[in-house]
Amino acid sequence: MDDSSEDDSSESFGPNRQREVYASGMLADQTPDLPTSPERLAELAREELPPEAHTYVAGSAGEESTKDENRRAFDRWRIVPRMLRDVEERDLSVELFGRELPVPVLLAPVGVQSIIHEDGELAAARAAADLDVPLVLSSASSETMEDVADKLGDTLGWFQLYWSADRDVTASFLRRAEEAGYEAVVVTLDTPMMGWRERDVEHAYLPFLDGEGVANYLSDPAFRDSLDASPEEDETGALWRFTEIFSDPSLTWDDLGFLREHTDLPIVLKGILHPDDASEAVERGVDGIVVSNHGGRQVDGAIGALDALPGVVDEVGDEVPVLFDSGIRRGADALRAIALGADAVMLGRPYIYGLAVAGADGVREVLRNFLADLDLTLALSGHASFEEIDRSVLVETDGTQAGE
Ligand code: GLV
Repeated sequence: MDDSSEDDSSESFGPNRQREVYASGMLADQTPDLPTSPERLAELAREELPPEAHTYVAGSAGEESTKDENRRAFDRWRIVPRMLRDVEERDLSVELFGRELPVPVLLAPVGVQSIIHEDGELAAARAAADLDVPLVLSSASSETMEDVADKLGDTLGWFQLYWSADRDVTASFLRRAEEAGYEAVVVTLDTPMMGWRERDVEHAYLPFLDGEGVANYLSDPAFRDSLDASPEEDETGALWRFTEIFSDPSLTWDDLGFLREHTDLPIVLKGILHPDDASEAVERGVDGIVVSNHGGRQVDGAIGALDALPGVVDEVGDEVPVLFDSGIRRGADALRAIALGADAVMLGRPYIYGLAVAGADGVREVLRNFLADLDLTLALSGHASFEEIDRSVLVETDGTQAGE
């Protein structure tokens, strides 16, 4: 990140974007390339993608009730806008782990992006770098972490870790991530095995067995050392080995020390939903938490992620940063999550749908719209920075004042 972001307060994501769009429309008869509504964009992506690729991204566990509950959870909280508070200059930045983020938004780790667009994670990284929006790269990316880091340049990148049953691979990933310049490790805890995703099962579709989403593994020295024959000689053997070592269901809290021994980067645990797990994590010395139910992809019938957020924040929010994902679609969602105590949010499926429809340009447009909406929601609710946002800006829909 360079100093050009210093001027972010006057960059004015919302009004700038509105001016650009309305000028193109009214003066040049041009409408935006992508649908602005995340729901219409999702629908267009469905039309554009092969059914099994679409389903892999859009689908969730079981009857997909957790995904629906993630959205319903937002509806229970309403913003109460305040007036006459000088919102002309706004600062959307937040600080995490000693680094200033220009906006409280990161691109969530989403693997296997090559099934969505041929440029995969490189396109997402290019868009993130253009807008200086941080990106969290999945272990299951279709491009190597080093190539994605190159595309990110100075833009902040974090590495999401699937903690492999092969400890040498895990240690190697941690080493590579640090060397490539990633600044935190986000360890996904909710996927000791894949959830029961009915639509994927119906398609009998697992992209890894097609050689997609395994770039970090096939390029990894420790992974390669564990094979009888190289992936170039025996791809099927390598891919089956990947499925065997992808995760480690035997992990317990006592294993966390292994990560600390192998990296100096901040360790952020993703997938925390219970306050007791949050306090255990902090007692064990982790540096941050992501409240998430993996977009509903793991446990059908689980608590909506936003419903889990206040309990986790009350338990550990003063001690470590708490991030949030699962269900964020618009600026008002991000604002509500931040009001309930999140330090930043992660955006997942919407940017993948932008990628599906228009590659890097699509991701860029989704992000620009999201940031515009967020900036306007902040301003129109009567605030000039996220420091001013807490539970007092919300009410529960039953009329109870939040935080009381
Ligand atoms: C893997 O993390 C997935 O959600 O598909």
